[in-house]
Amino acid sequence: MFRSNMMDFAAEEQVFYPDISFSIRANVRDTRIYDWAGIDYEGFWATEAEQLHWYRPWDKVLDWQPPFAQWFVGGKINACYNCVDRHLSSWRRNKAAIIFEGELGDQQVLTYQDLYREVTKFANVLRGLGVKKGDLVSIYMPMIPQAVVAMLACARIGAPHSVVFGGFSAEALRDRINDAGAKVVVTADGCWRRGKAIPLKQNVDIALTQCPSVEKVVVVERTRSEVYMEPGRDLWYHELMQQAPIGCEPEVMDAEDILFILYTSGTTGKPKGIVHTTGGYLTGVTSTHRNLFDLKEDDVYWCTADIGWITGHSYIVYGPLANGATVLLFEGAPDYPARDRFWEIIEKYRVTIFYTAPTAIRLFMKWGEVWPNGRDLSSLRVLGSVGEPINPEAWLWYHKHIGREKCPIVDTWWQTETGMVMVAPLPGITPTKPGSATVSLPGVAVDVVDELGNPVEAGHSGYLVIKKPWPAMLRTVYKDPQRYVDQYWSRFPGLYFTGDGARRDKDGYIWVSGRVDDVINVSGHRIGTAEVESALVEHPAVAEAAVIGRYHELKGQAVSAFITLREGVAWAPELEKDLKAHVAKKIGGLARPEEIICAWELPKTRSGKIMRRLLKDIAEGRVLGDISTLADPTVIHQLMNKKSAF
Ligand code: PRX
Repeated sequence: MFRSNMMDFAAEEQVFYPDISFSIRANVRDTRIYDWAGIDYEGFWATEAEQLHWYRPWDKVLDWQPPFAQWFVGGKINACYNCVDRHLSSWRRNKAAIIFEGELGDQQVLTYQDLYREVTKFANVLRGLGVKKGDLVSIYMPMIPQAVVAMLACARIGAPHSVVFGGFSAEALRDRINDAGAKVVVTADGCWRRGKAIPLKQNVDIALTQCPSVEKVVVVERTRSEVYMEPGRDLWYHELMQQAPIGCEPEVMDAEDILFILYTSGTTGKPKGIVHTTGGYLTGVTSTHRNLFDLKEDDVYWCTADIGWITGHSYIVYGPLANGATVLLFEGAPDYPARDRFWEIIEKYRVTIFYTAPTAIRLFMKWGEVWPNGRDLSSLRVLGSVGEPINPEAWLWYHKHIGREKCPIVDTWWQTETGMVMVAPLPGITPTKPGSATVSLPGVAVDVVDELGNPVEAGHSGYLVIKKPWPAMLRTVYKDPQRYVDQYWSRFPGLYFTGDGARRDKDGYIWVSGRVDDVINVSGHRIGTAEVESALVEHPAVAEAAVIGRYHELKGQAVSAFITLREGVAWAPELEKDLKAHVAKKIGGLARPEEIICAWELPKTRSGKIMRRLLKDIAEGRVLGDISTLADPTVIHQLMNKKSAF
């Protein structure tokens, strides 16, 4: 558990009550919603599902054969229809669905009618390329409207998508394409980042030398950089779209048909393909998006996540568009061309709801309030936080300098696996405490338990678990149901184990402290220690590697690597650089270790197990825990000396 969450117990006493002027207009005004949903959670979710368009109603709300759930059994639905077509029969057809701001300041607005045109055309393109219901499509794209169009077009024709974050390397992309068995890849020539064109297609080309399932690649022209186009395989998006007809019959999908797969890091070296299905997922994200952010028809909603992560899937694409919201999409970085880019965008488009990550907030704090103070942020009315624990200091800064003390903050705890937010305040009714995501949302049962799976008492810490199935829950791990059972349902019988630690306070509020497994959360992005370790040992210089997450002021956690070298290899600063670059090449820049500490031996128990707990103590400069089980205690002194060098 890391330091930002060694809770400031004083923060627990600080309570912010919803403002009455906000509460009286809030979508959720009645605190009894928690009780109703608690008593009849299936009924609660059925009511939420009724707000969507179904071709055929379900026969049964929930079929729970632990740990396998089916929601809205027998129901027929199409996610794309709900996100697009449904809005065309009212005035919403001319409402802005997507307001896009490119990094260079270029703008584009797509109304729901425009979105329909683009999505149905691209759905026809995909069908024309031979993509049928059930075929997988990988999407490796920058934050541009075509990425959303591609996702929705897949949903329309029943082709599950697998979006791979554009920051992943060619090798990481290759592994994800192969695991999914994708038939088509949708990508772009590149993307803009801090004024520079970053190539994407090149990574696809490298990946595809080893991806036998891929038949076609569709390339969006974004940076106009020169790219190689393989004859017979690679096609330009704009050329295909020119010929594609408007209008494409949506596929009638079963509620339990796969909507998408999203890969996330686990405790082994192999990323897991998290499987989300259609009806329950769409119900969960639509309902939570409306209630959490108190969405109103005239809101301008901005979530700064990338569509390559679950936050982008659930709260840029599916939830907001199913609700008919106006979604702002931004391609670039917060500090380009200046450190007030986000605030400039809020001012320019009169953004009302802003959803970002604690790591960004800590960065803004570091840059100072002079940047937001120079902009008009008065349009904001709700703020959100996601991805990692938010330290009370950052929460209070966000409240004061961005929310100007008038916006509720919804700190939302959830995961790729949960698909939707699970623990968070409802802004009109739930008092908030800086640093706590508060309590389970209505219809959700999250708890904190001890080693034996019993609920902890107030004031105690334990493991965060989920006691009842929820509609947007993952259904399985793609092609690996056993891993689903082992990973999530084996630690505590009958309970879903989140991998997080948490504390429950005297008011029943949950304070999530972070991962308790071998997963590191760097700037809100999950990285498996095993993935980084296997990347390191693949390097010819490295004999052994142990990777841990250590406290980092801005990123929450940073990757810290401890290695031993092979016989005859000498340690040098160039080698450290080389190893860092090697990890970035294998996985992506986000996994690059902050530091690499080289030792003659790693601390191990007598049975040969690496004592990661001690490495974490060393990296965070703490007094060492029990070292009596160490095979060779002298190892520790050498490591501590090395550590003092960084
Ligand atoms: O450790 C928790 C942390 O992020 C993990 C999930 O990561 P991922 O699947 O990548 O999804 C991130 C976006 C939903 C969790 O196991 N986490 C996420 N949100 C919070 C959080 N920790 C504390 N507070 C949060 N609000």
